[in-house]
Amino acid sequence: MHVVLLGPPGVGKGTQGILLADAFGWERIVTGDLLRAARDAGTELGREAQQYMARGELVHDQLIIGIVQEKLKTLTLGTNVVFDGFPRNSSQALTFSMMLQTVGLAIDQVVVLEADDDVLIKRISGRRSCPSCGAVYNQSLASPIREGVCDTDGGALFRRADDEPSTVRNRLEVYRRETEPLIAYYEKSHALVHHIAGSPSVEVVQTALRDALGLSLS
Ligand code: AP5
Repeated sequence: MHVVLLGPPGVGKGTQGILLADAFGWERIVTGDLLRAARDAGTELGREAQQYMARGELVHDQLIIGIVQEKLKTLTLGTNVVFDGFPRNSSQALTFSMMLQTVGLAIDQVVVLEADDDVLIKRISGRRSCPSCGAVYNQSLASPIREGVCDTDGGALFRRADDEPSTVRNRLEVYRRETEPLIAYYEKSHALVHHIAGSPSVEVVQTALRDALGLSLS
């Protein structure tokens, strides 16, 4: 199954995708993580992407399509995949559909996580991440046992540079303008589109997500 997770910055796409992948062995393709890894490795692609990410703008399509294609090549055929942060505009969505079609695949389901801006801003302003294992915490909503320290590997937690308030405002605008129209695009293309409230607790959202996708551990 191929599932696209859509939703504004901070709604919980990463948090929910990790839980889904851990519980059911799904692969995650997270374009934001791939770009941050390229930036941290100091590659040319990473340096180029950083200029856009720092402003909260979308990185250009050709670069994104290239990294998604490379990542897809590493997956075994038949693997269940959740796409988080991709596609992000209509051009990426069209190219992605064509890419999948050429290998006889399609997007099966789309999940739209929704929350009001005040919830998103509160979550983003408290988000802290572990540089080594990628675990994500929240200062007020999902704090680590020791402040500023990752529960899993003891790494010193950091705040993403693009989580500064002025950049977040732009990311929200870019989402509304470029990404939100994909909901109508997928509804028209007959993919199964689920709308899930993202503001309840992590556990409640995860249950709703599993129910929507028809997944059960038993
Ligand atoms: P990306 O990394 O994809 O950022 P985003 O879409 O803005 O999403 P976030 O990572 O901010 O939020 P999330 O929904 O994953 O929330 P999370 O689970 O962390 O993209 C970054 C940049 O890369 C873009 O701006 C762009 O420049 C570039 N880019 C990426 N993909 C691209 C593409 N396809 N094309 C072009 N450019 C691209 O949760 C947030 C916080 O809330 C955490 O602290 C978490 O602990 C907490 N939280 C989560 N759920 C709950 C809950 N239910 N209750 C309480 N707290 C919660």
